[in-house]
Amino acid sequence: MIKRLDHIAVAVPDLDRAITRFCADLGLSLGGQEDVPSQSTRTAFLPIPGTRIELVHPMEGKGPIQGFLDKKGGGLHHLCFETDDLAGDVATLRAKGYRFTTENPGPGAHGSLVIFLHPKDFDGVLIELVQLPEKP
Ligand code: CO
Repeated sequence: MIKRLDHIAVAVPDLDRAITRFCADLGLSLGGQEDVPSQSTRTAFLPIPGTRIELVHPMEGKGPIQGFLDKKGGGLHHLCFETDDLAGDVATLRAKGYRFTTENPGPGAHGSLVIFLHPKDFDGVLIELVQLPEKP
């Protein structure tokens, strides 16, 4: 079941410049940076009460974020909702006819499991579902 908005992702062509804009100029703080090789993505997280802005940038000029930048130059990339039952939600949504960009969930940032719903099924909005690892 969906619990909360985990993050809003913005694809940026220049990660350092975007961090400066969001932090130095807009006043957000940098929560951390992480490479997610499985998605060929470098991410920076900017926490803000209740959720986070995630800046996403391609690693080594490859992967889906590079394709997005080539087409659009940058912009809002996806919304991510946290679920407490990723497998259950995927099964329920598949049964309703929703399509996913991959067959199965894969590794995301912070040891999470993620999967993306096809944007064609959400009026052009890419939706990520994330299940965070159990806290020890
Ligand atoms: Co994301």
